[in-house]
Amino acid sequence: MVRVLLTGLLLLTAGSAQDKNPLHGNKDAIEAGKGMFRIYCAPCHGIAAQGGRGPDLTLGSYTAGNEDASLYRVIANGVAGTEMPGYSDRFDSDGIWRVVSYIRSVAGRPAPPLTGNRAAGEKLFWGKGACGACHRLGMRGSRIAPDLTLVGRTRSVEYLKEALVAPNASITPGYNTITIVTKEGKKIAGVQRNYDAFSAQVMDAQENYHSFFRDEVRSMERSLESMMPSYAATLSPRELDDMLAFLASLRGKGDTQ
Ligand code: HEC
Ligand code: HEC
Repeated sequence: MVRVLLTGLLLLTAGSAQDKNPLHGNKDAIEAGKGMFRIYCAPCHGIAAQGGRGPDLTLGSYTAGNEDASLYRVIANGVAGTEMPGYSDRFDSDGIWRVVSYIRSVAGRPAPPLTGNRAAGEKLFWGKGACGACHRLGMRGSRIAPDLTLVGRTRSVEYLKEALVAPNASITPGYNTITIVTKEGKKIAGVQRNYDAFSAQVMDAQENYHSFFRDEVRSMERSLESMMPSYAATLSPRELDDMLAFLASLRGKGDTQ
């Protein structure tokens, strides 16, 4: 009994020793963390942690929580169901703290100014932009394209801007366009759901699934172009700003309805 209690106490102390970054503000740790960040994290979070495919980490406020321990946890374990991987198998605990030290050293940058009007952007989303024909927000819209319910939280503003005006620049993994020509010569284009050496499963614009074996069709191609049109010409600069303000505001917590 006493032993159980003691073990419990020891675990507790070990836990609280981890709550604060033991390497906070340590110059060598920041330098080392920066090097690790450039190798492992920059492809998604940008070379200076300013964001990209993953969120901007320089703002100093995090969905995962603002405590050292929260950052440690998210880096160690990743975020299930998202592109954020866990690093506990690659970094030891000091390694993770070094990366946390680096992130803290670059945090505090003001959020990029968003001059657009969020409400006007929302109107464009369902109206002129017809974004809902492919995307989903909460319970509304289509499932062909990525669900955007939390996109303001999971992507940086720069990434969102690029998605609107140059959708082919970086296609969301798993959402390539697949074109299939059947033996009868019928052409079916859709968004990838599954794709491997032998088969493909796609969703067409009407949200119908189609599955094919490669040896049962005339051709099966995965294109590097997105199904998403560029809005660089269809929306005015003002409308693009409004759309961006709306997208950046999509952070969950009932903001969409
Ligand atoms: C393949 C892309 C990818 C890589 C590589 C990656 N991340 Fe992430 N990261 C993401 C995405 C996407 C999210 C948002 C997850 C979500 O939906 O909450 C995220 C979230 C985070 C968060 C939480 C932000 C918040 O506001 O809660 C931190 C901190 C973070 N990443 C740090 C790192 C560090 C440090 C590395 C390298 C050791 C790294 N990431 C590597 C994509 C990536
Ligand atoms: C014809 C279907 C279609 C329409 C219309 C469309 N999109 Fe997309 N969109 C896609 C597809 C498919 C992807 C995933 C491939 C890619 O990255 O381009 C995507 C990707 C995105 C992404 C990146 C999502 C992520 O997390 O990586 C954003 C943001 C986005 N679209 C916003 C919009 C907005 C805003 C509109 C309306 C102004 C719109 N889309 C209209 C099909 C569409």
